[in-house]
Amino acid sequence: MANVLVTGGTGYIGSHTVVELLQAGHEVVIMDNLYNSSIAVLDRIEEITGKKPKFYQTDLLDQEGLKKIFEENKLDAVIHFAGYKAVGESVEKPLLYYENNIQGSINLYQAMADANVKKIVFSSSATVYGDPASVPIREDFPVHTTNPYGSTKLMNEMILEDIAHADPEWSVLLLRYFNPIGAHQSGLLGEVPNGIPNNLVPYIARVANGQLEYLRVWGNDYDTVDGTGVRDYIHVVDLAKGHICALDYALKHTGVEKVNLGTGNGYSVLQVLHAYENACGKELPYQIMDRRPGDIATCYADTTKAKELLGWEAQYNIEDMCNDSWNFTVKNPDGIK
Ligand code: NAD
Ligand code: UFG
Repeated sequence: MANVLVTGGTGYIGSHTVVELLQAGHEVVIMDNLYNSSIAVLDRIEEITGKKPKFYQTDLLDQEGLKKIFEENKLDAVIHFAGYKAVGESVEKPLLYYENNIQGSINLYQAMADANVKKIVFSSSATVYGDPASVPIREDFPVHTTNPYGSTKLMNEMILEDIAHADPEWSVLLLRYFNPIGAHQSGLLGEVPNGIPNNLVPYIARVANGQLEYLRVWGNDYDTVDGTGVRDYIHVVDLAKGHICALDYALKHTGVEKVNLGTGNGYSVLQVLHAYENACGKELPYQIMDRRPGDIATCYADTTKAKELLGWEAQYNIEDMCNDSWNFTVKNPDGIK
């Protein structure tokens, strides 16, 4: 069993991963500046697992604060979620994104190197594939980014590859997530977007609970099953479990691996909307709009490598994802407080 630092551990994916880590018997130290999450997440984690992880309210940009965490804890590995993630905002404020996601991460990697902690699992994204020439997408496909957020993911991958190249004792797992949705089955943890959501399922959830009037479907003239965009939606609990397998792999190996975390299935916007209608038991209004700039038609993962290398495979289907999202939405109308 390992002692793991989870950066961004009170956030959406981080909190679900902390639950899985604790349930698998690992020890967890969380660091988060609470920019996009609530301290109340810690109580929710305790309610589910019976354990309260050690917590530091620290910013990645605070080098002294990072140093202190590594001095005060005997850490074996890091799972690095902390960062900003809004694509549109990154186009408007590129420097903010490069400072937080690149400078912040470099500070973390330096603190790790200084403390001789050389195992890391990093949150990358399918956005590094840009508009893929074909699907399903394999890890050896060419990478290309179209916005500063995506570039920060790709740059982090390159930085970590260079670190591992310079020191072969490092173990680096670059996990490329497809579209995480859903919530913990307990209804205690889930995604709480700030303001009006940009992403599909958080938006649909607010239409379902009456906070937003109707879904705007960004285009129905793509070359897909019904003309709307197709994505590989993955249950956040499956994604969290993928991190436990990635950590186990990192603890036993050195070197760098890039691994897709998706289900391998693609669903259109309208298919997701209909699955959500079944989950909440009502019809949900929508309107077809123009395409959203920067969107691609279809994106889903080839999951062979995750199965072969990590022994991991997604278990939950789109119905489970929508049911759990709706359960969380109903139980937490004001988010996690
Ligand atoms: P999130 O915003 O819920 O969690 C990120 C956490 O990091 C938040 O709690 C925030 O407070 C914290 N944070 C941000 N900047 C920080 C800093 N400078 N210092 C300390 N803490 C900081 O996001 P999430 O959806 O859980 O995403 C986690 C990671 O996965 C991110 O790196 C994101 O880019 C990546 N990712 C997310 C998606 C997705 O669709 N959610 C897809 C692909 C990749
Ligand atoms: N969509 C709508 N209406 C909405 C929101 C989304 O029709 O209100 C459509 C989009 O056009 C797209 C699909 O729903 O076809 C999914 O859109 P999301 O915004 O939920 O997700 P994206 O695939 O565009 O982007 C997500 C993350 C990015 C990440 C990318 C690749 O938000 O951070 O996956 O991993 F980079």
